[in-house]
This record gives sequence, C-alpha cells and structure tokens, in this order.
Amino acid sequence: MSTFSIAPSILSADFARLGEEVRAVIAAGADWIHFDVMDNHYVPNLTIGPAVAQALKRHTRRADGTQAPMDVHLMVQPVDALATAFAEAGADLISFHPDASTHVDRTLRLIRAAGCKAGLAFNPATPLDVLEWTLDQVDLVLIMSVNPGFGGQSFIDSALRKIEQARRLIERSGRDIRLEVDGGIKVDNIRRAADAGADTFVAGSAIFGQRDYQAVIDALRRELAPQAVAEAA
Ligand code: DX5
Ligand code: ZN
Repeated sequence: MSTFSIAPSILSADFARLGEEVRAVIAAGADWIHFDVMDNHYVPNLTIGPAVAQALKRHTRRADGTQAPMDVHLMVQPVDALATAFAEAGADLISFHPDASTHVDRTLRLIRAAGCKAGLAFNPATPLDVLEWTLDQVDLVLIMSVNPGFGGQSFIDSALRKIEQARRLIERSGRDIRLEVDGGIKVDNIRRAADAGADTFVAGSAIFGQRDYQAVIDALRRELAPQAVAEAA
C-alpha cells in the first residue's frame, strides 16, 4: 500500500494571489497541488488554463529543493489539445474524464508520451467499466465524490463504494496506480475514504477556507495515522 498524499485544490484559493497561495500550502505540508481546469462546456464553470499552470510551476518548489507534483484535473471537452498544452506547461499528472474523450486509449497514450502520468476521473454516476480496458495505461484513478464544477459541495457517500471497487481493480492489476478521491473531503470523512482504499486526497474548501493551512493539513494527516484506527476500534 502506497503512502497517503494530500493534494490541496487551488480552486478555493485566493485567485488574486495564486503564487503566494501555492507557496503557503506547500510550506504547510501539501504533497501535491491539484489544479482544477474547467471549460464552461464539460462543466458549468470556467477556471485556469495552461498559462496559469506554467506561471505557477516555479512556485511549487519545496524548501528542500524538491518539487510538489502538479496534479492537473481536466474537466474539459475535447481533451487532447489541452492535455498536450498542460504537459508543456509543466504538469506532472494529467487526469481527464473518459466520457469527455472520444478515444480514451489514445488520450492516455498521448499524455504518457508527453512525459506525464495519466489519470482517469469518474463522476458520481459514471461506472468504472472503462478501466477494464485501460488499466495498463493508467497511473491514477480519480473518484469524484461531488459532481464536478464547483468547490465546497458535500461528499456523496456512494463514492466510498466506488473507491472500494477501484481499489480491487488496482490490486488485481498489480500495477502502481494511485487512487485519488476528489470532492467534499474534510477532517471528519477523510478516514472513511482511506478505509475504502483511497491513498490521495484532494481538499479545496477544507484547507483554503481556513486561515491556518498547516493546522488543517495536520488534522487531515492525523486522521490518516495508524493510531487513529486503533483509537476508533
Ligand atoms: C470539483 C473539483 C474539486 C474541488 C474540491 O469539480 O474537481 O477538486 O475543487 O473542492 P472541495 O474540497 O471544496 O470539494
Ligand atoms: Zn479536482
């Protein structure tokens, strides 16, 4: 089982101070930075493009000189041209929704050929069927626990069952594939998502909605620590 990663979503950050926000959340202990890309077509909202990602790339350096991976979540249709643009902008992982691409296998190969890890994102009502044919090209499975488009929505419980299902498929594949949950993750439900099998946790409003980012990230991590299981038992 891989270690847990926390991926703050900058969707809930102060867009007038994005560089500063990225640096602050990395200093507070963020493992990845989650970029929500919305096109007002696949989802009814509009956010950031590759130019913003490129400008933020230099803010993703940690104090020890390593870089926090840039986790780009594309909620766009079509996918391919923007996936390529984000790869060029410095993305490390690029996820897209299979229902937004006409040729899912081609899009996965294109992302990997561009040197990035490739992910598939599943909406609350979207089945995981496509994984049966794509797991050998997938580095990340992203389970949406809200309908994509906005931060600050409530966690949809059926996502837990889908995380369990995805975990079984990943284990069966024997491949090193991250399992990320996205939407409505808070201190009071992150443990349930981890117990279902998630290893990477996107949190937008939970982190950027508070003044002290480190306090929230620490609290999220405490929930993931093994002793939290022992205490609950
Ligand atoms: C929703 C986005 C999520 C969202 C998470 O479309 O994909 O990443 O920003 O925000 P919270 O944690 O506030 O639900
Ligand atoms: Zn997202």
